[in-house]
Amino acid sequence: MAMSRTSHLSFLVILVLASVAAAEIRFTEIRSDDRPIIPFDEFGFTHSGRLELNVSHISFSVTVPDSELGKLGFFLCTRDSWLQVLEQMEDAEISCTLQSDLIKKVFTFDKFKGDKSTFNIVFPQIDADQYTLVFANCFQNTQQSLKLTMDVRSAMYNLEGKSSRRDYLSAGRTILPRIYFLFFMIYFALAGLWFYVLHKKRLIVYKIHFFMLAVVILKGLNLLCEAEDKSYIKRTGSARGWDVLFYIFSFLKGIMLFTLIVLIGTGWSFLKPYLQDKEKKVLMIVIPLQVVANIAQVVVDENGPFGQVEIAWKQVFLLVDVICCCAVLFPIVWSIKNLREAARTDGKAAMNLMKLTLFRQYYIVVICYIYFTRVAVFALETITSYKYLWTSVVAAELATLAFYVFTGYKFMPEAHNPYFAIDDDEEEAAAEALKLDDEFEL
Ligand SMILES: *[C@@H]1O[C@H](CO)[C@@H](O)[C@H](O)[C@H]1NC(C)=O
Repeated sequence: MAMSRTSHLSFLVILVLASVAAAEIRFTEIRSDDRPIIPFDEFGFTHSGRLELNVSHISFSVTVPDSELGKLGFFLCTRDSWLQVLEQMEDAEISCTLQSDLIKKVFTFDKFKGDKSTFNIVFPQIDADQYTLVFANCFQNTQQSLKLTMDVRSAMYNLEGKSSRRDYLSAGRTILPRIYFLFFMIYFALAGLWFYVLHKKRLIVYKIHFFMLAVVILKGLNLLCEAEDKSYIKRTGSARGWDVLFYIFSFLKGIMLFTLIVLIGTGWSFLKPYLQDKEKKVLMIVIPLQVVANIAQVVVDENGPFGQVEIAWKQVFLLVDVICCCAVLFPIVWSIKNLREAARTDGKAAMNLMKLTLFRQYYIVVICYIYFTRVAVFALETITSYKYLWTSVVAAELATLAFYVFTGYKFMPEAHNPYFAIDDDEEEAAAEALKLDDEFEL
Protein backbone atom coordinates (compact mmCIF):
# COMPACT_ATOMS: atom_id res chain seq x y z
CA MET A 1 0.00 0.00 0.00
CA ALA A 2 2.77 2.39 0.95
CA MET A 3 4.50 1.71 -2.29
CA SER A 4 1.41 2.36 -4.28
CA ARG A 5 0.95 5.68 -2.49
CA THR A 6 4.42 6.82 -3.48
CA SER A 7 3.75 5.86 -7.05
CA HIS A 8 0.49 7.80 -6.98
CA LEU A 9 2.31 10.81 -5.66
CA SER A 10 5.13 10.47 -8.12
CA PHE A 11 2.55 10.42 -10.88
CA LEU A 12 1.36 13.78 -9.61
CA VAL A 13 4.88 15.15 -9.68
CA ILE A 14 5.28 13.87 -13.22
CA LEU A 15 2.04 15.55 -14.20
CA VAL A 16 3.32 18.86 -12.95
CA LEU A 17 6.76 18.41 -14.50
CA ALA A 18 5.49 17.15 -17.82
CA SER A 19 5.53 19.78 -20.48
CA VAL A 20 2.34 20.93 -22.11
CA ALA A 21 0.20 18.39 -23.83
CA ALA A 22 1.87 17.07 -26.92
CA ALA A 23 -1.26 15.33 -28.12
CA GLU A 24 -0.64 13.28 -31.14
CA ILE A 25 -1.76 9.83 -31.98
CA ARG A 26 0.41 7.73 -29.71
CA PHE A 27 1.39 4.11 -29.79
CA THR A 28 2.59 2.77 -26.48
CA GLU A 29 3.82 -0.73 -25.81
CA ILE A 30 3.28 -1.84 -22.25
CA ARG A 31 5.43 -4.86 -21.44
CA SER A 32 5.15 -6.81 -18.15
CA ASP A 33 4.28 -3.65 -16.33
CA ASP A 34 3.08 -3.81 -12.71
CA ARG A 35 2.74 -0.09 -12.05
CA PRO A 36 -0.60 0.61 -10.33
CA ILE A 37 -0.96 3.79 -12.37
CA ILE A 38 0.25 4.19 -15.94
CA PRO A 39 -0.23 7.68 -17.38
CA PHE A 40 -0.39 7.95 -21.16
CA ASP A 41 -1.03 11.35 -22.59
CA GLU A 42 -2.57 14.68 -21.75
CA PHE A 43 -4.98 16.69 -23.85
CA GLY A 44 -7.11 19.84 -23.63
CA PHE A 45 -10.60 19.02 -24.79
CA THR A 46 -13.21 21.45 -26.07
CA HIS A 47 -16.92 20.65 -25.83
CA SER A 48 -16.67 18.34 -28.82
CA GLY A 49 -13.71 16.21 -27.82
CA ARG A 50 -13.14 12.55 -28.61
CA LEU A 51 -10.82 9.91 -27.28
CA GLU A 52 -10.17 7.00 -29.58
CA LEU A 53 -8.60 4.05 -27.86
CA ASN A 54 -7.47 0.86 -29.58
CA VAL A 55 -5.87 -1.69 -27.32
CA SER A 56 -4.64 -5.04 -28.52
CA HIS A 57 -2.49 -8.02 -27.48
CA ILE A 58 -3.61 -7.76 -23.87
CA SER A 59 -2.18 -10.45 -21.63
CA PHE A 60 -1.70 -10.95 -17.90
CA SER A 61 1.14 -12.60 -15.99
CA VAL A 62 -1.33 -14.28 -13.61
CA THR A 63 -4.90 -15.35 -14.26
CA VAL A 64 -7.39 -12.73 -13.16
CA PRO A 65 -10.84 -14.03 -12.12
CA ASP A 66 -13.73 -12.43 -14.03
CA SER A 67 -15.03 -10.82 -10.83
CA GLU A 68 -11.78 -8.87 -10.49
CA LEU A 69 -11.57 -7.56 -14.06
CA GLY A 70 -13.35 -4.36 -13.06
CA LYS A 71 -10.21 -3.34 -11.17
CA LEU A 72 -8.32 -2.85 -14.39
CA GLY A 73 -9.12 -0.09 -16.80
CA PHE A 74 -8.56 3.22 -18.51
CA PHE A 75 -9.88 6.51 -17.25
CA LEU A 76 -9.60 10.25 -17.86
CA CYS A 77 -8.81 12.60 -15.03
CA THR A 78 -8.01 16.29 -14.59
CA ARG A 79 -5.12 17.42 -12.42
CA ASP A 80 -7.42 18.95 -9.81
CA SER A 81 -9.62 15.92 -9.46
CA TRP A 82 -6.53 13.74 -9.25
CA LEU A 83 -5.61 15.55 -6.04
CA GLN A 84 -9.07 14.84 -4.65
CA VAL A 85 -8.85 11.20 -5.70
CA LEU A 86 -5.59 11.01 -3.77
CA GLU A 87 -7.39 12.40 -0.73
CA GLN A 88 -10.16 9.85 -1.08
CA MET A 89 -7.53 7.10 -1.18
CA GLU A 90 -5.80 8.58 1.83
CA ASP A 91 -9.07 8.63 3.80
CA ALA A 92 -9.70 5.05 2.70
CA GLU A 93 -13.02 6.04 1.14
CA ILE A 94 -11.98 4.08 -1.88
CA SER A 95 -9.33 1.44 -2.44
CA CYS A 96 -8.96 1.85 -6.18
CA THR A 97 -8.86 4.98 -8.30
CA LEU A 98 -11.44 3.40 -10.61
CA GLN A 99 -14.00 3.52 -7.79
CA SER A 100 -13.85 7.27 -7.51
CA ASP A 101 -16.72 9.27 -8.98
CA LEU A 102 -14.33 12.10 -9.83
CA ILE A 103 -12.78 10.30 -12.75
CA LYS A 104 -14.27 9.45 -16.12
CA LYS A 105 -14.14 5.74 -16.73
CA VAL A 106 -13.32 5.04 -20.34
CA PHE A 107 -13.10 1.27 -20.33
CA THR A 108 -12.78 -1.33 -17.58
CA PHE A 109 -11.78 -4.86 -18.38
CA ASP A 110 -15.09 -6.34 -17.19
CA LYS A 111 -16.74 -4.78 -20.25
CA PHE A 112 -15.16 -7.17 -22.71
CA LYS A 113 -17.45 -8.84 -25.17
CA GLY A 114 -15.96 -12.14 -26.28
CA ASP A 115 -12.32 -11.66 -27.18
CA LYS A 116 -10.45 -10.53 -24.08
CA SER A 117 -7.23 -9.48 -25.77
CA THR A 118 -8.37 -6.51 -27.77
CA PHE A 119 -10.89 -3.65 -27.76
CA ASN A 120 -11.62 -0.43 -29.68
CA ILE A 121 -13.59 2.44 -28.28
CA VAL A 122 -14.46 6.03 -29.15
CA PHE A 123 -15.19 7.99 -26.00
CA PRO A 124 -16.97 11.34 -26.41
CA GLN A 125 -15.57 13.91 -24.04
CA ILE A 126 -17.91 16.88 -23.85
CA ASP A 127 -16.66 18.58 -20.69
CA ALA A 128 -14.10 21.09 -21.78
CA ASP A 129 -10.98 20.71 -19.68
CA GLN A 130 -7.50 19.26 -19.73
CA TYR A 131 -7.48 15.54 -19.08
CA THR A 132 -4.85 12.88 -18.71
CA LEU A 133 -5.45 9.39 -20.00
CA VAL A 134 -4.46 6.92 -17.30
CA PHE A 135 -4.52 3.18 -16.84
CA ALA A 136 -5.19 1.83 -13.34
CA ASN A 137 -4.18 -1.62 -12.17
CA CYS A 138 -5.79 -2.22 -8.76
CA PHE A 139 -5.63 -5.98 -8.86
CA GLN A 140 -4.10 -7.20 -5.60
CA ASN A 141 -2.84 -10.70 -5.28
CA THR A 142 -1.15 -11.94 -2.14
CA GLN A 143 1.47 -14.03 -3.94
CA GLN A 144 2.58 -11.87 -6.82
CA SER A 145 1.64 -8.65 -8.53
CA LEU A 146 -0.12 -8.63 -11.85
CA LYS A 147 2.15 -7.80 -14.74
CA LEU A 148 0.36 -6.48 -17.76
CA THR A 149 1.26 -6.52 -21.43
CA MET A 150 -0.63 -4.63 -24.13
CA ASP A 151 -0.32 -2.39 -27.17
CA VAL A 152 -2.11 0.90 -26.78
CA ARG A 153 -3.00 3.33 -29.53
CA SER A 154 -4.55 6.49 -28.21
CA ALA A 155 -5.80 9.43 -30.25
CA MET A 156 -7.38 12.49 -28.71
CA TYR A 157 -8.86 15.22 -30.81
CA ASN A 158 -11.52 17.92 -30.89
CA LEU A 159 -14.09 18.23 -33.66
CA GLU A 160 -14.02 21.59 -35.35
CA GLY A 161 -16.82 23.52 -36.99
CA LYS A 162 -19.74 22.17 -38.93
CA SER A 163 -17.71 19.84 -41.09
CA SER A 164 -16.49 18.12 -37.91
CA ARG A 165 -12.91 18.21 -38.99
CA ARG A 166 -10.56 16.60 -36.49
CA ASP A 167 -8.14 18.87 -34.68
CA TYR A 168 -5.41 16.87 -33.03
CA LEU A 169 -3.89 19.84 -31.24
CA SER A 170 -4.88 20.39 -27.65
CA ALA A 171 -7.36 23.23 -27.04
CA GLY A 172 -4.72 25.73 -25.89
CA ARG A 173 -2.32 24.94 -28.70
CA THR A 174 -4.53 24.85 -31.71
CA ILE A 175 -3.47 28.32 -32.88
CA LEU A 176 0.24 27.54 -32.51
CA PRO A 177 0.84 26.93 -36.24
CA ARG A 178 -0.33 30.48 -36.96
CA ILE A 179 1.77 31.94 -34.15
CA TYR A 180 4.91 30.18 -35.34
CA PHE A 181 4.26 31.32 -38.87
CA LEU A 182 3.84 34.91 -37.74
CA PHE A 183 7.18 34.79 -35.93
CA PHE A 184 8.76 33.21 -38.98
CA MET A 185 7.66 36.24 -41.01
CA ILE A 186 9.16 38.56 -38.43
CA TYR A 187 12.54 36.79 -38.52
CA PHE A 188 12.37 36.69 -42.29
CA ALA A 189 11.99 40.48 -42.26
CA LEU A 190 14.79 40.80 -39.69
CA ALA A 191 17.13 38.70 -41.83
CA GLY A 192 16.32 40.95 -44.80
CA LEU A 193 17.01 44.03 -42.74
CA TRP A 194 20.30 42.64 -41.43
CA PHE A 195 21.33 41.68 -44.93
CA TYR A 196 20.67 45.24 -46.02
CA VAL A 197 22.73 46.62 -43.12
CA LEU A 198 25.63 44.30 -43.94
CA HIS A 199 25.51 45.32 -47.56
CA LYS A 200 25.37 49.01 -46.81
CA LYS A 201 28.22 48.90 -44.31
CA ARG A 202 30.25 46.23 -46.03
CA LEU A 203 33.53 48.03 -45.38
CA ILE A 204 33.25 47.79 -41.61
CA VAL A 205 31.59 44.41 -41.31
CA TYR A 206 33.23 41.73 -39.16
CA LYS A 207 32.91 37.96 -39.44
CA ILE A 208 30.66 37.89 -36.41
CA HIS A 209 28.05 39.87 -38.34
CA PHE A 210 27.72 37.13 -40.94
CA PHE A 211 27.46 34.66 -38.12
CA MET A 212 24.56 36.68 -36.73
CA LEU A 213 22.85 36.61 -40.12
CA ALA A 214 23.17 32.82 -40.17
CA VAL A 215 21.67 32.55 -36.69
CA VAL A 216 18.66 34.69 -37.65
CA ILE A 217 18.08 32.68 -40.82
CA LEU A 218 18.28 29.40 -38.91
CA LYS A 219 15.89 30.69 -36.28
CA GLY A 220 13.44 31.64 -39.05
CA LEU A 221 13.70 28.26 -40.76
CA ASN A 222 13.28 26.56 -37.40
CA LEU A 223 10.05 28.46 -36.83
CA LEU A 224 8.81 27.68 -40.31
CA CYS A 225 9.36 23.96 -39.74
CA GLU A 226 7.71 24.18 -36.35
CA ALA A 227 4.67 25.87 -37.92
CA GLU A 228 4.48 23.23 -40.63
CA ASP A 229 5.06 20.42 -38.13
CA LYS A 230 2.31 21.64 -35.80
CA SER A 231 -0.19 22.25 -38.58
CA TYR A 232 0.47 18.74 -39.93
CA ILE A 233 -0.10 17.28 -36.47
CA LYS A 234 -3.24 19.38 -36.19
CA ARG A 235 -4.66 17.84 -39.33
CA THR A 236 -3.41 14.25 -39.17
CA GLY A 237 -2.32 13.55 -35.62
CA SER A 238 1.17 12.57 -36.61
CA ALA A 239 4.23 14.54 -37.57
CA ARG A 240 6.06 12.27 -39.96
CA GLY A 241 8.53 14.18 -42.05
CA TRP A 242 8.38 17.73 -40.85
CA ASP A 243 9.63 16.92 -37.39
CA VAL A 244 12.93 15.66 -38.79
CA LEU A 245 13.59 18.98 -40.53
CA PHE A 246 12.46 20.76 -37.40
CA TYR A 247 14.93 18.83 -35.24
CA ILE A 248 17.76 19.50 -37.67
CA PHE A 249 17.16 23.24 -37.63
CA SER A 250 16.61 23.33 -33.86
CA PHE A 251 19.87 21.54 -33.45
CA LEU A 252 21.81 23.91 -35.72
CA LYS A 253 20.08 26.93 -34.24
CA GLY A 254 20.80 25.80 -30.66
CA ILE A 255 24.48 25.29 -31.36
CA MET A 256 24.84 28.49 -33.36
CA LEU A 257 23.00 30.63 -30.83
CA PHE A 258 25.11 29.48 -27.90
CA THR A 259 28.25 29.81 -29.99
CA LEU A 260 27.20 33.31 -30.96
CA ILE A 261 26.63 34.32 -27.34
CA VAL A 262 30.08 32.97 -26.45
CA LEU A 263 31.75 34.66 -29.43
CA ILE A 264 30.15 38.01 -28.74
CA GLY A 265 30.96 37.57 -25.08
CA THR A 266 34.63 37.09 -25.88
CA GLY A 267 34.59 40.06 -28.21
CA TRP A 268 35.84 37.85 -30.98
CA SER A 269 36.40 39.57 -34.32
CA PHE A 270 35.58 43.08 -33.17
CA LEU A 271 37.73 43.35 -30.03
CA LYS A 272 40.31 40.76 -31.03
CA PRO A 273 40.78 38.39 -33.95
CA TYR A 274 41.52 35.24 -31.92
CA LEU A 275 40.08 33.17 -29.09
CA GLN A 276 41.98 32.46 -25.88
CA ASP A 277 42.37 28.87 -24.74
CA LYS A 278 39.89 29.16 -21.92
CA GLU A 279 37.35 30.68 -24.28
CA LYS A 280 37.82 27.82 -26.70
CA LYS A 281 37.26 25.47 -23.78
CA VAL A 282 33.88 27.05 -23.09
CA LEU A 283 32.90 26.35 -26.69
CA MET A 284 34.19 22.81 -26.40
CA ILE A 285 31.92 22.30 -23.40
CA VAL A 286 28.86 24.05 -24.76
CA ILE A 287 28.73 22.52 -28.24
CA PRO A 288 28.77 18.82 -27.22
CA LEU A 289 26.31 19.59 -24.43
CA GLN A 290 23.97 21.15 -26.95
CA VAL A 291 24.18 17.92 -28.94
CA VAL A 292 23.12 15.98 -25.83
CA ALA A 293 20.36 18.48 -25.06
CA ASN A 294 18.96 18.11 -28.56
CA ILE A 295 18.98 14.32 -28.42
CA ALA A 296 17.13 14.51 -25.10
CA GLN A 297 14.59 16.88 -26.60
CA VAL A 298 13.93 14.53 -29.52
CA VAL A 299 13.45 11.52 -27.22
CA VAL A 300 11.00 13.41 -25.02
CA ASP A 301 9.02 14.89 -27.91
CA GLU A 302 8.72 11.71 -29.89
CA ASN A 303 7.63 9.42 -27.08
CA GLY A 304 5.29 11.51 -25.01
CA PRO A 305 6.09 13.02 -21.66
CA PHE A 306 5.09 10.13 -19.42
CA GLY A 307 7.40 7.25 -20.26
CA GLN A 308 10.01 6.30 -17.65
CA VAL A 309 12.89 6.77 -20.07
CA GLU A 310 11.54 10.12 -21.19
CA ILE A 311 11.45 11.51 -17.68
CA ALA A 312 15.12 10.66 -17.26
CA TRP A 313 15.89 12.34 -20.58
CA LYS A 314 13.89 15.36 -19.55
CA GLN A 315 16.08 15.70 -16.48
CA VAL A 316 19.18 15.30 -18.63
CA PHE A 317 17.90 18.08 -20.85
CA LEU A 318 17.26 20.43 -17.92
CA LEU A 319 20.65 19.76 -16.38
CA VAL A 320 22.55 20.21 -19.63
CA ASP A 321 20.63 23.36 -20.39
CA VAL A 322 21.51 24.86 -17.02
CA ILE A 323 25.21 24.05 -17.51
CA CYS A 324 25.21 25.62 -20.99
CA CYS A 325 23.49 28.74 -19.72
CA CYS A 326 26.06 29.18 -16.95
CA ALA A 327 28.99 28.42 -19.24
CA VAL A 328 28.12 31.12 -21.75
CA LEU A 329 28.28 33.76 -19.04
CA PHE A 330 31.98 33.20 -18.29
CA PRO A 331 33.40 34.75 -21.47
CA ILE A 332 31.36 37.89 -20.89
CA VAL A 333 32.67 38.19 -17.35
CA TRP A 334 36.25 37.69 -18.60
CA SER A 335 35.76 40.37 -21.23
CA ILE A 336 34.46 42.81 -18.67
CA LYS A 337 37.50 42.11 -16.50
CA ASN A 338 39.89 42.57 -19.43
CA LEU A 339 38.27 45.82 -20.46
CA ARG A 340 38.58 47.18 -16.93
CA GLU A 341 42.25 46.36 -16.88
CA ALA A 342 42.80 47.83 -20.31
CA ALA A 343 41.03 51.00 -19.24
CA ARG A 344 43.53 51.43 -16.42
CA THR A 345 46.58 50.98 -18.62
CA ASP A 346 46.02 52.26 -22.14
CA GLY A 347 44.52 55.66 -21.36
CA LYS A 348 41.67 55.50 -23.85
CA ALA A 349 39.08 55.93 -21.15
CA ALA A 350 36.05 56.94 -23.19
CA MET A 351 36.47 54.10 -25.64
CA ASN A 352 36.90 51.53 -22.93
CA LEU A 353 34.05 52.85 -20.82
CA MET A 354 31.77 52.52 -23.82
CA LYS A 355 32.77 48.93 -24.44
CA LEU A 356 32.53 48.17 -20.75
CA THR A 357 28.99 49.52 -20.57
CA LEU A 358 28.10 47.55 -23.66
CA PHE A 359 29.39 44.29 -22.22
CA ARG A 360 27.71 44.88 -18.88
CA GLN A 361 24.41 45.46 -20.62
CA TYR A 362 24.96 42.37 -22.68
CA TYR A 363 25.71 40.35 -19.57
CA ILE A 364 22.47 41.47 -17.95
CA VAL A 365 20.43 40.90 -21.09
CA VAL A 366 21.81 37.38 -21.52
CA ILE A 367 20.89 36.58 -17.92
CA CYS A 368 17.40 38.03 -18.38
CA TYR A 369 16.96 36.10 -21.60
CA ILE A 370 18.04 32.83 -20.03
CA TYR A 371 15.99 33.42 -16.92
CA PHE A 372 12.89 34.41 -18.81
CA THR A 373 12.93 31.63 -21.40
CA ARG A 374 13.73 28.96 -18.81
CA VAL A 375 12.12 29.92 -15.53
CA ALA A 376 9.44 32.53 -16.23
CA VAL A 377 8.03 30.69 -19.22
CA PHE A 378 7.92 27.46 -17.24
CA ALA A 379 6.09 29.23 -14.44
CA LEU A 380 3.67 30.78 -16.91
CA GLU A 381 3.06 27.37 -18.45
CA THR A 382 2.25 25.96 -15.03
CA ILE A 383 -0.14 28.67 -13.90
CA THR A 384 -2.04 29.45 -17.09
CA SER A 385 -5.22 27.60 -17.80
CA TYR A 386 -4.92 24.86 -20.42
CA LYS A 387 -6.95 27.04 -22.80
CA TYR A 388 -4.22 29.68 -22.91
CA LEU A 389 -1.16 27.50 -23.14
CA TRP A 390 -0.16 29.30 -26.31
CA THR A 391 0.53 32.43 -24.25
CA SER A 392 3.69 30.90 -22.81
CA VAL A 393 4.90 30.13 -26.32
CA VAL A 394 4.24 33.72 -27.35
CA ALA A 395 6.02 35.01 -24.23
CA ALA A 396 9.08 32.84 -24.93
CA GLU A 397 9.18 33.84 -28.59
CA LEU A 398 8.79 37.52 -27.77
CA ALA A 399 11.63 37.31 -25.25
CA THR A 400 13.80 35.56 -27.83
CA LEU A 401 12.93 38.15 -30.44
CA ALA A 402 13.78 40.96 -28.04
CA PHE A 403 17.12 39.28 -27.33
CA TYR A 404 17.94 38.96 -31.04
CA VAL A 405 16.96 42.55 -31.71
CA PHE A 406 19.00 43.82 -28.77
CA THR A 407 22.05 41.83 -29.83
CA GLY A 408 21.74 42.98 -33.42
CA TYR A 409 21.23 46.59 -32.50
CA LYS A 410 24.01 46.84 -29.94
CA PHE A 411 26.61 44.96 -31.95
CA MET A 412 25.67 46.40 -35.30
CA PRO A 413 28.56 47.27 -37.62
CA GLU A 414 29.79 50.74 -36.67
CA ALA A 415 27.84 50.79 -33.41
CA HIS A 416 31.18 51.20 -31.64
CA ASN A 417 33.55 52.25 -34.34
CA PRO A 418 36.99 52.71 -32.78
CA TYR A 419 37.75 55.66 -35.10
CA PHE A 420 34.92 57.86 -34.00
CA ALA A 421 35.91 61.25 -32.71
CA ILE A 422 36.00 61.88 -28.98
CA ASP A 423 36.64 65.30 -27.58
CA ASP A 424 38.71 65.95 -24.47
CA ASP A 425 35.76 66.69 -22.20
CA GLU A 426 34.23 63.34 -22.94
CA GLU A 427 37.57 61.65 -22.36
CA GLU A 428 37.94 63.28 -18.95
CA ALA A 429 34.40 62.46 -17.92
CA ALA A 430 34.94 58.85 -18.92
CA ALA A 431 38.19 58.65 -16.95
CA GLU A 432 36.33 59.91 -13.88
CA ALA A 433 33.56 57.39 -14.40
CA LEU A 434 36.04 54.56 -14.68
CA LYS A 435 37.78 55.63 -11.50
CA LEU A 436 34.48 55.68 -9.65
CA ASP A 437 33.73 52.34 -11.13
CA ASP A 438 36.99 50.92 -9.77
CA GLU A 439 36.25 52.14 -6.31
CA PHE A 440 32.85 50.48 -6.32
CA GLU A 441 34.18 47.22 -7.60
CA LEU A 442 37.06 46.87 -5.14
C1 LIG B 1 -9.79 2.32 -33.32
O1 LIG B 1 -11.11 2.14 -32.86
C2 LIG B 1 -12.08 2.95 -33.49
C3 LIG B 1 -13.41 2.67 -32.82
O2 LIG B 1 -13.81 1.36 -32.94
C4 LIG B 1 -12.11 2.63 -34.98
O3 LIG B 1 -13.05 3.46 -35.63
C5 LIG B 1 -10.73 2.85 -35.56
O4 LIG B 1 -10.71 2.49 -36.92
C6 LIG B 1 -9.69 2.04 -34.80
N1 LIG B 1 -8.39 2.37 -35.30
C7 LIG B 1 -7.44 1.47 -35.56
C8 LIG B 1 -6.16 1.99 -36.07
O5 LIG B 1 -7.61 0.30 -35.36
